[in-house]
Amino acid sequence: MGYWFEDPGIKGLLPLATAAGIRGLSSVFNTPMMIMGANVFSEAPGLGPGTIDHLNNKCPKKRAFVVSDEFGKRYADKVEKFLLAWGYTTESWCKVEPEAPIENVQACAVAMTAFEPDLIMAVGGGSVMDAAKGAWVIYERPDLQNLMAFSPLSPLGLRKKAVMAAVPTTAGTGSECTGAAVLHDHANDRKIPIASAELVPDFAILSPEFTMTMPEKLTLGTGLDVLAHAMDAVTCIAATEMTDAMGLAAIEMVHKYLPRAVANGRDREARLRMLLAASIAGISFGNSGASLTHSFGHSLGSLFHVHHGLAVGFFIPFCLQYYAKTSEKHVRIARTLGIQGKDRKESLDNLVAHTRAFFKSLNVPLSLKELGVSEEKMKAEMPRLIPYTREDIDSIFSPRPMTETQCEKFWHYAYHGKDIDF
Ligand SMILES: [Fe+2]
Repeated sequence: MGYWFEDPGIKGLLPLATAAGIRGLSSVFNTPMMIMGANVFSEAPGLGPGTIDHLNNKCPKKRAFVVSDEFGKRYADKVEKFLLAWGYTTESWCKVEPEAPIENVQACAVAMTAFEPDLIMAVGGGSVMDAAKGAWVIYERPDLQNLMAFSPLSPLGLRKKAVMAAVPTTAGTGSECTGAAVLHDHANDRKIPIASAELVPDFAILSPEFTMTMPEKLTLGTGLDVLAHAMDAVTCIAATEMTDAMGLAAIEMVHKYLPRAVANGRDREARLRMLLAASIAGISFGNSGASLTHSFGHSLGSLFHVHHGLAVGFFIPFCLQYYAKTSEKHVRIARTLGIQGKDRKESLDNLVAHTRAFFKSLNVPLSLKELGVSEEKMKAEMPRLIPYTREDIDSIFSPRPMTETQCEKFWHYAYHGKDIDF
């Protein structure tokens, strides 16, 4: 069976669903209920309704299935302790593998189905939240075991058995606020994106404590993912006033708080603001789209095994230059960051210079060469890199289409860190 995102019918219909004339006017804006702060998992009653009251409203059976991995287990234990204190029956499954393969998601679904929860709690980074979403689909819809054939345009009919709460332990993917999940078909070296408004979790519960132990490299990589989500959300063809407002706010927050979170992981304020920025960017791109930073980043990640956040963040300056031929959105981004320019061109040049200086201050490579990619291997992989990039589902949201020749040129320019001047 083929991948849903290669179905020509779906590829043709998706851009229509975001046509300029109707976007923002006839669509639904999806967000989870957001619960955030230091006391989100309090075991004692507080002032006014707390996390447990909101969960109880939707989970009468009080059966919670906690999904996590070996890194998130300590936080999953805290969440489980909180649920037990409030009278829930729980089971935890901490076996999500990094970049969760479909088979791993299916195994999670088997355990979930046997337990019959009415609450699914995903405690972890992007892989955990995405795997939990995949397992949730199979639990609710056993006929959809093969998630590769999943269509974002067909109703799923979720929430007949359970609701979902996402508790991120990284500040990056935004999966706690989006209807997207990325699973993996390792046999064919492909990322399998699944997407549906129904997959937006019911609750996003943000505890800064849960991100405090992220190592510096992961803090940086996930933070760059937030920036790429926000940049793409603002520049993509599906952007609306609401997604712009949130995307621009996230861009500002990342510039302010990511350097602090990288420099000092115990900086509680920076950690909370980055968690918020990740969720805000998630809501923004979840209701508009990601575009070329992710098409290039997914291809780089698949074939060269670069961390997702670093891979997509790396392409931001190049994509800004590419988009600017057909879009003026960079002017708004520049203004948000207090960057001046007498015209569109100067505004772009100053924004790109500012982004490169920001990257340099965080030791983010400015060329694929610096990133350690072998030029020989890149050239040899070009027959796969070009179709992977152009056919990536996020490329349909780009404000500017890309030919095969442009795509190949883009890869070479990125290798040398050259300005995209075509
Ligand atoms: Fe991403």
